[in-house]
Amino acid sequence: MRPCLLLLIVVVAGVFGRAARAAPPVGEKLTPQYYSQTCPRAERIIAEVVQSKQMANPTTAAGVLRVFFHDCFVSGCDASVLVAPTSFEKSEQNAEINHSLPGDAFDAVVRAKLALELECPGVVSCADVLALATRALVTLTGGPRYPIPLGRKDSLSSSPTAPDKELPHSNFTVNELINMFGKKGFSVQELVALSGGHTLGFSHCKEFADRIYDFQGKPGSADPTMNPVLTKGLQVACNLFHKDPTIAAFNDVMTPGKFDNMYFVNLKRGLGLLSTDQELWTDKRTKPFVEIYASNATAFFDDFSRAMEKLSLYGVKTGANGEIRRRCDSYNNGPMPK
Ligand code: HEM
Ligand SMILES: *[C@@H]1O[C@H](CO)[C@@H](O)[C@H](O)[C@H]1NC(C)=O
Ligand SMILES: *[C@@H]1O[C@H](CO)[C@@H](O)[C@H](O)[C@H]1NC(C)=O
Ligand SMILES: *[C@@H]1O[C@H](CO)[C@@H](O)[C@H](O)[C@H]1NC(C)=O
Repeated sequence: MRPCLLLLIVVVAGVFGRAARAAPPVGEKLTPQYYSQTCPRAERIIAEVVQSKQMANPTTAAGVLRVFFHDCFVSGCDASVLVAPTSFEKSEQNAEINHSLPGDAFDAVVRAKLALELECPGVVSCADVLALATRALVTLTGGPRYPIPLGRKDSLSSSPTAPDKELPHSNFTVNELINMFGKKGFSVQELVALSGGHTLGFSHCKEFADRIYDFQGKPGSADPTMNPVLTKGLQVACNLFHKDPTIAAFNDVMTPGKFDNMYFVNLKRGLGLLSTDQELWTDKRTKPFVEIYASNATAFFDDFSRAMEKLSLYGVKTGANGEIRRRCDSYNNGPMPK
């Protein structure tokens, strides 16, 4: 009898707690145990689905990590990035910066969500699926396992104009990077640690073309901070990128599929791909952190973990400020995607 009674008290206290609050419960606390009663196998199921997706398509991890970053920086970690446009309404996916958000990343999340809907329908939010899928893939590719508090709700909107304003561009100066991350509450050290996400994946030639073909608007000149061997290689690889915009290069030219601290080692050798990567080594505010992470992988993993947990809590929605979508690409009351 005793445990039941206790449970009842907890439930009653919960109900009163909710009723007593006048404003919507924005401040509800997320916890890693959020689904321990309602969907205890959620994490396991998501990990299994994304692992098989990663084995079939090794670019999945990078894609999911980037999608997660884009989700969080634009209106918080609320799966707003997953909403597909309909004939009636545009979404974040219509923003120009979307162009490379890879289909495999979306597919991985959709599959994980489908599996969860069979196990415990209507329980796990798409925002939580994306956060857990990202953590599973970072770990799978060799990165750290960091805590992911759960209980995010999915957004009820998705703005087609927000991504181009809220996300960093490859032509940003370090000042602009520091300002954008600072406005969202992230320190210079956290900016550098999170940039370590570029240890995975690739960038399309247009994102760094000016560095190899017409540096500072001068045709035929290249960025002197880029290692000449890399410059030569990229000039050849990207030769036809105007005709074929899908041509791309690995962000981490040394160990592209492995989550490690090589990204920072590369920067010291002029092997950063984007100017926003290489400038972290040139700028004296960011350089000390690059130095530490290049020489100490544990320090990078520790700081990346803390920063990812913080990122995963950025602008999350709880209570009535969101819903648990049945399908990650559309609102529960919205029209189906095109
Ligand atoms: C610091 C500012 C950042 C800038 C300017 C930036 C910019 C970019 C650009 C231009 C690309 C290439 C897109 C393409 O051509 O397809 C890219 C790819 C990527 N970014 Fe970032 N990014 C930043 C921060 C981050 C952060 C914080 C993360 C995650 C923690 C991240 C994760 C990734 C990943 C994993 C890819 C590869 C995607 C793939 O291969 O599909 N980025 N980023
Ligand atoms: C992403 O942006 C590109 C360029 O603006 C656009 O052509 C494409 O349709 C967009 N993707 C989606 C799904 O809207
Ligand atoms: C930076 O890139 C964005 C899109 O990638 C573009 O809209 C913007 O004009 C560029 N800014 C500068 C200063 O080149
Ligand atoms: C590497 O970083 C970790 C974590 O910050 C620290 O405990 C360790 O002492 C560092 N190792 C070296 C050799 O500096």
